[in-house]
Amino acid sequence: MAKPVLLITRRLPAAVEARAAREFEARLNPDDVRRTGADVARLAEGADAVLCCPAEKLDAAAIAALPASVRVLGTFSVGFDHIDIKAAAARGIAVCNTPDVLSVATAECAFLLILAAARRAGEGERMVRAGAWDGWAPTQLIGTQVSGRRLGIFGLGRIGRELARMARGFGMEVHYLDQQRLPEALEQGAIFHPTDATFLPVCDVLSLHAPGGEGTRAWLDAERIARLPPGAIVANAARGSLIDDAALIAALRSGQVAAAGLDVYNNEPALDPAYRSLENVVLLPHLGSATRATRDAMGFLALDGIATLLAGGTPPNRVLA
Ligand code: DGY
Repeated sequence: MAKPVLLITRRLPAAVEARAAREFEARLNPDDVRRTGADVARLAEGADAVLCCPAEKLDAAAIAALPASVRVLGTFSVGFDHIDIKAAAARGIAVCNTPDVLSVATAECAFLLILAAARRAGEGERMVRAGAWDGWAPTQLIGTQVSGRRLGIFGLGRIGRELARMARGFGMEVHYLDQQRLPEALEQGAIFHPTDATFLPVCDVLSLHAPGGEGTRAWLDAERIARLPPGAIVANAARGSLIDDAALIAALRSGQVAAAGLDVYNNEPALDPAYRSLENVVLLPHLGSATRATRDAMGFLALDGIATLLAGGTPPNRVLA
């Protein structure tokens, strides 16, 4: 029996590509050429399924342009704000993603951002690297200790809960804001806030873990930043769209936010250039899930989901509109 044709839009870990080549007629991208939504639609001609990546914007126009042969769309990410899910559903295209397997790696990245921002690791690294360090000094690069402080998590989903688990090891008091309170077994002692009004003032450290998309666009704006304790630390390993960049940049300049750690940006990779001129922001290139084991697991989960959907089944990682 002929194998289904799978377009894989970017180069994937070798083990994932090898499995894809065994189980599908896989169209790979060995040179890892960046693709737009329009490219994906063009390259998918005759394909049964597409495995895309978060950098490819599959909006309503790109979904409409997909050839009729495409029945399944998998994304190599847990986030699916780059895909117009409703447009895909309207065309009868099933979608799957890669939840769970990247939660620990992404939470580690958020904790890295928190520590690096609070302890001024970026500034210190730049100083040493530039040959500008003249030795230890009692007042040099004084930062903020996060152990024992209050951590506010916006969105206590899978990644947020992993971060909370790590924060408990640092003796942090964990607070969270979400649409509804989680069962106690998932909360693990984290303190629920139904509104900004009580949540933001307790966030000595605020870490964003809500999904991207219209519902959360520019959530961290000037008004919310003003409610944070002065000198708060902000971390974002979720989606750049959660932040109003102008507001965060102004707060980093004024000191209302002492430091920020960012892994994700509006308009990636063309982040607001003002961030690059600020010493008190740590900037990573969307590394959240970038560990070998995690990226392998993401690929295998995406392939599992695509195969199940093509066979008419319902995998646990199916995304519903
Ligand atoms: C995701 O999975 O949504 C990440 O942003 C990619 O690491």
